[in-house]
Amino acid sequence: MEPVKSFQNKNLKNKIALLRTDYNVPTNGKLILDCTRIDESIPTIKALLEKEAKIIILTHRGRPKGKIDISLSMEPVARELEKKIMVPVRLINKLDEDVHRYDEKIFLFENLRFYPNEEENDQDFAHKLSKLGDIYINDAFAASHRAHASLSGIPKFIPSYFGLCMAKEILALNTIFENPNRPVVALIGGSKVSTKIQLLKNLILKVDSIIIGGAMANTFLKARGVSIGASLVEDSCLQIANEILYLAEQNNVSLIFPKDAKVSKTLQDDPSAINKSLDQIEQDDMILDLGIESSKMIGGLLADAKTVIWNGPLGAIEFKPFEEGTVYVAQRLAKMCLENNTSVVVGGGDTIYGINIANTYSSYTHVSTGGGAFLEWLEGKELPGVRSVIENKKEG
Ligand code: 3PG
Repeated sequence: MEPVKSFQNKNLKNKIALLRTDYNVPTNGKLILDCTRIDESIPTIKALLEKEAKIIILTHRGRPKGKIDISLSMEPVARELEKKIMVPVRLINKLDEDVHRYDEKIFLFENLRFYPNEEENDQDFAHKLSKLGDIYINDAFAASHRAHASLSGIPKFIPSYFGLCMAKEILALNTIFENPNRPVVALIGGSKVSTKIQLLKNLILKVDSIIIGGAMANTFLKARGVSIGASLVEDSCLQIANEILYLAEQNNVSLIFPKDAKVSKTLQDDPSAINKSLDQIEQDDMILDLGIESSKMIGGLLADAKTVIWNGPLGAIEFKPFEEGTVYVAQRLAKMCLENNTSVVVGGGDTIYGINIANTYSSYTHVSTGGGAFLEWLEGKELPGVRSVIENKKEG
């Protein structure tokens, strides 16, 4: 396991720390709807303040494509952060800013994606950013799958370390793959097989069994000859589904699918949705959630696991009552974590939405702040933002 490069033993008095966070928070245009990513950055900010460093936070919001878009300004995040840590936060936007001339200790740089150079990983831009501070700390796990200037580039120029949120993510994710308590069960949901082919192939090499739910299970069921009616399916992935089934068999990994379903004729709230076994599915039925038997079966299978990795909701959780399967499993896993000491690692934006419906967010071993980054890590890919800090050998 790679050592986690920490800034903790560094003397940072009067130094300027460039702290890369992921403040790409969901909003309704005005209000921040979920502050998890801000909250998760606070331990590192507090640790740096204790070391009497000045902090320039570098981050991004949305996809403004290299143009200034005031609706994606970091201003609301600055105000939210200020409220949470009760220390003033000054918004800055100049690449040659000297923050020593201000009394404030925390500065938030305006959305880096207002500059096209950020996503282009322009080395000159990265160099200019690096000159704003003395050391660099990457605490943005959720953005570290992007080879952008503030993630990949800055560590080429100044001493670089991981922040506390990042260290927590790396430790949790390394542990599940490198030294897990077995059996390890992966629970994979979501709607598309096509977005998770690499994930499934990688997991087959690492885990003992994989439970598949959500609409992506439909594609596997159809590939195995089950009639799935009018359910969402990826016909272009039937062949790949068969290949994944074969790969699992070759590696002695059980792939488990739902055996019944909650169905409806339309994709919307449906208080009269009914439970059907798979052989009762009609031409115009849509499978929208785990059935009662499947939820119980999955609950039973999970009970034997010592480690669980979960990505992807198990039904159409945005509509009622199709969140019930996901909520049931979320609550079972939370109980296992608490009572049996099972390690449960959860990640991905939609999955987090699901565990929030179940009210179990704080009950797991680790909830990753990453969406795409969590998925790429599980796929076995090296994240550019992690690699660049590991490769940095400059001493601060
Ligand atoms: C995320 O929210 O997953 C990260 O901030 C990355 O955002 P992006 O997909 O726009 O690069």
